[in-house]
Amino acid sequence: MRTIDWNKESNSVVLVDQTLLPKEYRIIECKTLSSLCDAIKSLRIRGAPALGAAGGFGIALAAFLSEAKNLEIMINDLEAVGNALKSTRPTAANLGWGVNRVLGAVSDAPDVQGARDIALQEAMDIAEEDVATNKLIGEHGAKLLKDGDTVLTHCNAGRLACVDWGTALGVVRSAIAEGKDIKVIACETRPQNQGSRITTWELMQDKIPVTLIADSMAGWAMHEGLVDSVLVGADRITQDVIFNKIGTYTHSILAKEHNIPFYVAAPISTFDFDGWEGSVKIEIRSPDELRFFGSEQLAPKDVEVLNPAFDATPMENVTAVITEKGVFYPPFLLDEVLV
Ligand code: MRU
Repeated sequence: MRTIDWNKESNSVVLVDQTLLPKEYRIIECKTLSSLCDAIKSLRIRGAPALGAAGGFGIALAAFLSEAKNLEIMINDLEAVGNALKSTRPTAANLGWGVNRVLGAVSDAPDVQGARDIALQEAMDIAEEDVATNKLIGEHGAKLLKDGDTVLTHCNAGRLACVDWGTALGVVRSAIAEGKDIKVIACETRPQNQGSRITTWELMQDKIPVTLIADSMAGWAMHEGLVDSVLVGADRITQDVIFNKIGTYTHSILAKEHNIPFYVAAPISTFDFDGWEGSVKIEIRSPDELRFFGSEQLAPKDVEVLNPAFDATPMENVTAVITEKGVFYPPFLLDEVLV
């Protein structure tokens, strides 16, 4: 199934529990807002475009659960739910974008039942459009990859980070679909290991050649000539920087040092047209993600820890940003992307 969807029988949100991969592929059902918020916070559903869909479905779920007697009360309730959803993961632009898009659609509803129908339709549209958008990103990005290339990626910007197909890994899928021989080097992506757990798993499912390395091996791999380009996704793109999974900034510097192109693949919904590096809140996650691996203790239990989930890569380290509207080469104005 898709990473996230709506169950029409039970009016609930269904999603692939990504915390269980690669050991187990399990679909879970979120019938309440607290279970959906918990799924987002605990990374059962993750990745910027998938979070956009989760935000949209979250508002639809709230509309179905609402007992409001009139539209005004319902819209007030949905706005409060929207704020709660947005606060679960503050950095990924798509979560707020998905919430706002469905709230915007609902504001034109004729009545409470109409609001439910509109919210669900809008959320379904977001999910459907995500797949089409990623295919376009793939088409544009595939032109940047040559037959025989090896691409280094970080975190998971694949089908499991989206509704389907993927952004960065969507580019790889599209290039392969065009007949190119493309290999992937997946960085482990400590501390949550989205690279080793999810990227390798989904690529192996599709029989796309993938080799896993520890994050600290990326410089060595580039120095050895094993990497033709770096290709990552994004959680938020502002005028000056790309926010993506912690470690992306390091890869960008390494790529620059080794004259390797550094590509970012992301939909327009990831762009934050008013934001700057300093205006964005970077999510800080639990210290225990570093002190433990599952139940395994890796460090003294009370050691001081820094655990930002994302970092900011300056636009000058980026060779090109691949979107559904085409490929943009910095420096570009965000307004140009919208045309
Ligand atoms: O913390 P995560 O797993 O949600 O972080 C995800 C990433 O950083 C991805 O690279 C990004 O969302 C792009 S996904 C197409």
